[in-house]
Amino acid sequence: EFKINIAIDGPAGAGKSTVARKVAKELSYVYVDTGAMYRAVTWDMLNRGIDAEDETAVLERMGAIDIELVPGDEGQRVWLSGTDVTDEIRSLAVNRTVSRYAQIEGLRAELSAAQRQMALRKGVVMDGRDIGTTVLPDAEVKIFMTATVEERARRRFRELPESDEAITLEQLESEIAQRDELDRNREVSPLVCAADATVLDTTNMTIDEVAEAIVRQADLKL
Ligand code: C5P
Repeated sequence: EFKINIAIDGPAGAGKSTVARKVAKELSYVYVDTGAMYRAVTWDMLNRGIDAEDETAVLERMGAIDIELVPGDEGQRVWLSGTDVTDEIRSLAVNRTVSRYAQIEGLRAELSAAQRQMALRKGVVMDGRDIGTTVLPDAEVKIFMTATVEERARRRFRELPESDEAITLEQLESEIAQRDELDRNREVSPLVCAADATVLDTTNMTIDEVAEAIVRQADLKL
């Protein structure tokens, strides 16, 4: 059976993961959330007290980290060296620091290599920041999803764990804007729309509409 790869990139809270999961389900493809890998690494580093400034320590620790993405009924679960950290990696502490770790070239090289490995046999819907540009430049379908920062903050607000509900929507909006800024301006694999990607502004689209638009693009290649 002929299969393709689908790359979905865009800023935080654009709805990439919800849509990617849905598209994967419809095509019976595997969904890979690369942000979860950066988050799992960040969670580990925070627990060990390793600051993103200390690149040597970060890279040394990387060697001991084992991340597993396990597809499940209610979405992908993330395991870090034998512990299920799916919920922990969505915390504000991780939100606030992940983009600093994600700037480290050696760390990105390791995660990108693992991501490419997962897509070798095709049939993957992968979301992130640099999938269409760096990880899978040959992906048959490339989407760049955006939405206004206000709408993206609202979407992220709804997915925060209960323990973090003290944050206001305005605070969250400014934190998302900061994270985008770091992701867009970093030297290695910045968040940028690939030249051959289709831009989807999802501000006024439903999840179903966005997913349908992507599946339609996939169908043209299948
Ligand atoms: O997608 P999500 O918001 O979970 O990603 C968390 C962070 O991980 C991003 O803000 C970005 O700093 C980093 N990331 C990345 N490259 C990817 C996926 C995520 O740099 N492919």
